Amino acid sequence: MSLRCPIVCVLGHVDHGKTTLLDKIRKTRVSQREAGGITQHIGASEIPIDVIKKVAKDLLGMLKADLKIPGLLVIDTPGHEAFTSLRKRGGALADIAILVVDINEGFKPQTIESINILKQNKTPFVVAANKLDLVPGWNSKDVPFVLNFNEKVQHPNALTEFEIRLYNNIIKPLNELGFDADLFTRVEDLTRTVCVIPVSAKTGEGIPDLLLMIAGLAQKYLEDNLKLDVKGPAKGTVLEVKEERGLGKTIDAIIYDGIARRGDYIVLGNPDGVVVSRVKALLKPKPLDEMRDPRDKFKPVNMVTAAAGVKISAPDLDRVIAGSPFRIVPKDKIEEAKKEVMAE
Ligand code: GTP
Ligand code: NA
Ligand code: MG
Repeated sequence: MSLRCPIVCVLGHVDHGKTTLLDKIRKTRVSQREAGGITQHIGASEIPIDVIKKVAKDLLGMLKADLKIPGLLVIDTPGHEAFTSLRKRGGALADIAILVVDINEGFKPQTIESINILKQNKTPFVVAANKLDLVPGWNSKDVPFVLNFNEKVQHPNALTEFEIRLYNNIIKPLNELGFDADLFTRVEDLTRTVCVIPVSAKTGEGIPDLLLMIAGLAQKYLEDNLKLDVKGPAKGTVLEVKEERGLGKTIDAIIYDGIARRGDYIVLGNPDGVVVSRVKALLKPKPLDEMRDPRDKFKPVNMVTAAAGVKISAPDLDRVIAGSPFRIVPKDKIEEAKKEVMAE
């Protein structure tokens, strides 16, 4: 039996800090290397559970359950208005989501669009109220929010400013869209109220709180939906088709369910028909590396368990396009898989 790694999708308006937040968690610099400072593709990275436990060590007592999940697969999406289709594709993969909202700017068109995607997919979510360091007078530090949110650390005016922005820019607009929402420390029923977690991607404040909340909620969601065990053939979605030296056309993909094995057959649904090919190599990015801009080389593996980002090398992928659904199956399951991907 393998425990499934939940998929966490990060959504929100352009420049509200999605990629920078993930950079802070991963200790990467992806956002600084993006053309025009704009995310233009879906990203993926794995955050191992050990990293979450270490970052949130001061807060682990807040959780009622032990963390059993192997980690989180985090999907980064673009916030620019031009990329609605990528937000929808990322949103459709999510077990749970982080909606990133600049606490100073509040709700913007793509914040609302993101919420509609989450509503459509019935995806539970938390709000990361980002750029807390820019609240006037706020003394932001690389510590859990719960340890930094009190009169000993913050000037009364800063606390007032914070409460005003939290309510006007985050809670009120959520209420207007039909959601109960509150600061996560004030939420009693996690199934009814959207948790708002103040963070700063710049200083790191609130990141332990965010990681712990999302890991706890994701595990509960998988348990409640009986999705904690992984079995059966791999199901996935193509993120990008890439030419790689020595490998030819490869695909970067998310496996969202099941187990992929090298030597099995990949069956892809394309607009002009089904593509079947044999998997020559499965390559996994290193934990904490962003798949679309990795620090390290991908590692060849014989097997990949959902959920995971993976590069797949196989012959005859020329006609494959981003967004295509696929299965990875043994030979005797190819016909069944063809029917499934054509129906998606
Ligand atoms: P798109 O993917 O293009 O939608 O943007 P994004 O949401 O990923 O935002 P990005 O990470 O590109 O950050 C946008 C800008 O905000 C960058 O200049 C970041 O340095 C800055 N930024 C992000 N988070 C914070 C924060 O918490 N505090 C401050 N002061 N600046 C931040
Ligand atoms: Na940006
Ligand atoms: Mg980004």
